[in-house]
Amino acid sequence: MQLLRHARVDLGQTWLHGGAPSGNGWPWLDFSTNLNPLGPPASVLKALRSSLSAIARYPDPDSTVLVEALARHHRVEPNQIMIGNGVNECIHAIARSWPSSIVAIVQPTYTEYHRACVNARHRVQHWVTEGDDFQPTPFDPGRARMVWLCNPNNPTGRLWSLGQLIPWIESHPAVDFIVDESFLPFRPDHLRHSLIRQVKRVENLIVLRSLTKLFTLPGLRLGYLLANPVRVAALRSNQPWWPISVLSQLAGLAALKDKPFIQRTQAWLKPERNLLLYKLDAFSGNLRPVLSQTNFVLVHLQGISAQVLRYQLLRHGICIRLATNRFVGLEGEYIRLAVRTRKENEQLVAALRSILKSNASETQDEVR
Ligand SMILES: Cc1ncc(COP(=O)(O)O)c(C=O)c1O
Repeated sequence: MQLLRHARVDLGQTWLHGGAPSGNGWPWLDFSTNLNPLGPPASVLKALRSSLSAIARYPDPDSTVLVEALARHHRVEPNQIMIGNGVNECIHAIARSWPSSIVAIVQPTYTEYHRACVNARHRVQHWVTEGDDFQPTPFDPGRARMVWLCNPNNPTGRLWSLGQLIPWIESHPAVDFIVDESFLPFRPDHLRHSLIRQVKRVENLIVLRSLTKLFTLPGLRLGYLLANPVRVAALRSNQPWWPISVLSQLAGLAALKDKPFIQRTQAWLKPERNLLLYKLDAFSGNLRPVLSQTNFVLVHLQGISAQVLRYQLLRHGICIRLATNRFVGLEGEYIRLAVRTRKENEQLVAALRSILKSNASETQDEVR
């Protein structure tokens, strides 16, 4: 890991998120957001449809039933959980909970940690993962009061080793470690990689979990954090009175109950991701995928600009995430692709094949 001494960061660019252009009726195939292509689950849609009249009353401000269901789901106490209007709300709440201090962010990563810390007037240090495999490792946080990291990490798709992570967090009790596990439940072995079991014991640990990725509910907004009860109570006291809607509460409950959907998702991911990685790898001249351990793939482009490739794919009705100049510490031309269904992944690969082939023949024409 390397401390970035002079971060050249274009905040306007790095704080942009993915998402296909909307509003013109084009049926985009959206590889730019890391959502579950199998969702939203029918059970959640049914629960929402049959509960619409509930919007005529105020929601339970404490989301009691949902918090209890989450506590059972994770085998923790309800007072260790705070629900937010998406994990993004939790990220900003945590950043605001400290007076202005030095904070460390493990880069390249999800950009909202940086945005929240800058907005809360913290001084941000960027620690950048080295090497082509982007494998993150512990470092000395120095005078930082918070360390933000993502596991598995967006956009690199890499997992931390828990054997390194736990001793690192324990050996810095004065530093808060915020670990975003929003993409972990896509993996069938998520329990083996999660820090949730450590939350009761390790006081300087906060774990983030989103429900919008796994259950494809980004428009609904639903996420939560797990931390020790004192921390949860302090964060909760600064939240607005009704942080989430009655529909979000009901959708969250229905989603947690839908174990077959969760199992189907976990069974889908590994073969589809590995097949996509294999096919991308076959474009060895132009595309170098990072060995992802989750539901999206960062691809290092050779001899083609990410911006150009993005425009060319848009002409095929496919939207991808531009990663060049969008993530701190990511130098070079990069795109990020979500793993989708077999048919959709094949459409993407076919479009890439046709674009790269015609680019290559144009280059040959220019050479002749
Ligand atoms: C790592 C990570 N955490 C959190 C979020 C936001 O989650 P939510 O929709 O629950 O706010 C995202 C969204 O892309 C993300 O990539």
